[in-house]
Amino acid sequence: MIPDAFKQDLLNRVDIVDVVSRYVQLKKGGANYLGLCPFHGEKTPSFTVSPAKQFYHCFGCGVHGNAIGFLMEYGGMGYIDAVKELAASVGMQVPEKPRTTEEIARQERETDLYGVMEKAMQFYRGELKQSPRAIEYLKGRGVSGEVAARFRIGYAPDDWQGLQKAFSDYHDKALVECGLVIESEGKRYDRFRDRIMFPIYSARAAVIGFGGRVMGAGEPKYLNSPETPLFEKGREVYGLVQAREAIRTAGRALVVEGYMDVVALAQFDIGYAVATLGTATTPIHVGKLLRLADELVFCFDGDAAGRKAAWRALEVALPLAPDHKPIRFLFLPDGDDPDTYVRRHGKEGFEKLLRQAQTLSDFLLGQLRAESDLATAEGRAGFLARAKPHIQKLAAPALRVQLVNAVAEMARVSEPDIQRLMELPKAGYARPAPRRPSYEAPSCPEWSLLACLLTDLGLVEHIDPALLTPDLPETEALLAIRSLCAEAAEEPSFPILLDALDARHLDLVLKAQKYGEEVGFDTEGAKYEIQEALAKLDLKRRKVELDSILKQGMASREEQLAYRDKLMTYKRLQGALPSP
Ligand code: CTP
Ligand code: MN
Repeated sequence: MIPDAFKQDLLNRVDIVDVVSRYVQLKKGGANYLGLCPFHGEKTPSFTVSPAKQFYHCFGCGVHGNAIGFLMEYGGMGYIDAVKELAASVGMQVPEKPRTTEEIARQERETDLYGVMEKAMQFYRGELKQSPRAIEYLKGRGVSGEVAARFRIGYAPDDWQGLQKAFSDYHDKALVECGLVIESEGKRYDRFRDRIMFPIYSARAAVIGFGGRVMGAGEPKYLNSPETPLFEKGREVYGLVQAREAIRTAGRALVVEGYMDVVALAQFDIGYAVATLGTATTPIHVGKLLRLADELVFCFDGDAAGRKAAWRALEVALPLAPDHKPIRFLFLPDGDDPDTYVRRHGKEGFEKLLRQAQTLSDFLLGQLRAESDLATAEGRAGFLARAKPHIQKLAAPALRVQLVNAVAEMARVSEPDIQRLMELPKAGYARPAPRRPSYEAPSCPEWSLLACLLTDLGLVEHIDPALLTPDLPETEALLAIRSLCAEAAEEPSFPILLDALDARHLDLVLKAQKYGEEVGFDTEGAKYEIQEALAKLDLKRRKVELDSILKQGMASREEQLAYRDKLMTYKRLQGALPSP
C-alpha cells in the first residue's frame, strides 16, 4: 500500500506533460498540450494534456487520468509499478505504509508463492541443460537455444519427487498451493514429470503457472497448472511479456491456440503472438490485448473445431470491438497450425496469409449467410433473425451502422424496416461522430457552478447546498466534490479529485472543467458566475415557495400580507437580475 500523502506529493512533483511527452508527441495549443491519442487511432489530435490541472483527457475516446493513470494505461503497468516508476523519475523513494498483520501475512504468502514458482522455473531450466533427450526434442521442433532461453523453457525430470532437489522442504504446503506438487492419500509427488515445461508469466513478469508437454506419445499432451492464488486461466495469455514490445512496434497482436505456436512464430521473428491457455477466449483476454494493440487478429485452425472456437471468440469480441481497432480472423489451411505453417512458409508466407485475414464483419456475415438460403423469403427472414442478436451486441456505433446496412442489403430489406427489425436503440447510431463539440453551454445553474468550482476548488465555500436542485447529476457531482474537499486536509489538486471521485461523475466533471477552461474563467470571473448562478437558484426556490402557498390557499389576512411581501421581494430580485 502506498500512503496517500506520498501519492499527493508525487503528483505535485511530476509534470504530466513530461511524462506523456516521453511517449506521445505533444504540441502546445492554448493553455493545453495537444497530440494524437495513443489509446485510439486518429489522424487529427483530440488528446489533451493540461499542465495546470495535471491530467490528460482524450475527447475522441474519453480516456483520462493523471500521470499515474497514464503510465498504467499506456505502459500496461500495475498501480504500484506506475507509482514506483514515476517516483524514480523525480528521485523519490516509495515509503512503506505500516501494514496490518493480516496484510503482511497475505503478502508474505504471495511473495512466497511467487518465489516458489520462480525457483521451480529455474530448476526446470537447469534440468533442461542436463537432459540431452529434452534438448533433442526441442531441436527437433526447431526451437533454438536463444528462443528457449527467451521463453524460459525447461524440463521436468522423469522423477516422482524431482522437485526435492530444488526445495529443501518438499513438504512445504506452498508447493501444493502453487500446484507444483500433488498430495494424495498422505503421499506427495510432482505434478509435472518428464515434460517440456513452458512457464506462464503474469503481465508483471512473474511466473504464475506452467504448461508441460509430453515428448512422445502420452496423455494428456499438455498438462497445465491448476488455478492457484496466482494463476487464473481466463485472465492470462501465454507469451505476453515476451510479445509486448513487438505488439507495440507492429501495432498488432495475434492470438493463437498453443504454446508451441507462440514459440515457433517467435523463432521466425514474428514476436507479436500470444496464446490463450487451453481455454476459450474471454473478454478479459480481448480487453487486455486491445489496450496494447491497434489491431487484433485471432488465428485458428481451419477445421470444424477451429471455426467453432473462432465463433466463440467472435461472440466475446462483439461488445468490445472498437470502431478504430479492427479485429480479424485468420483461418489456416486444414491440417496446419501456426507452428507448422510458419515452418513451411517462413515469416513472409505467414504474414502474407495474415494480410488476408477476414475482418470480423466478413466472418460474421459469411457465417450467417452460409447458414441461410438467401434466395427464398423464408431463408432471408431466418438470416435476419440470426443476425439480430449479434448486431445488437455490437457497441461500436460506426461498425454497427456498416453491419446493419450490409445485412439490410443481403436480406433485401429497406432502411426503415431494418431499423425496426433489429430493434436498435436510436441513439446508438443517431449520435454524431465520437468527437464532441469542444465545449457545451451551461444547461442549468448547477452546471455553471460545477464549471466555476473546477476552475478553483477554493470556491467551494461559496456554494450553498441548500439551493441545489435535488437529484440532478450536476448536483450530485457538486455535492461529491464538496464532501471530498471537506474530508481532505488541504485543497485537493485536480488529478487527486478525479482519482477520488466516483466514476459516474467523471464525464460531467471533465466536460465542465473543459468548459471553464475554454471560457477562460479565472477565480474572480468564476466567483461572479457563482453569485449569478446562486441568485438564479435562489429565485427558483422562491418561486417554488410562492407557488405552493398559492396552491394551499391563504386563510387569514396575515397570510395574505406575508405572501404579498414575498412576491414583492421575488419581483424585485427578478428585476435585479441581468436579463437571460
Ligand atoms: N491444450 C491443453 N491441454 C491439452 C491439449 C491442448 O491445455 N491436453 C492447450 C495447450 O495450450 C496447447 C493448445 O491447447 O498449446 C493447443 O493444443 P494442440 O493444438 O493439441 O497442440 P499444439 O499447440 O499443436 O501442440 P504441439 O504442436 O506441441 O502438438
Ligand atoms: Mn502444433
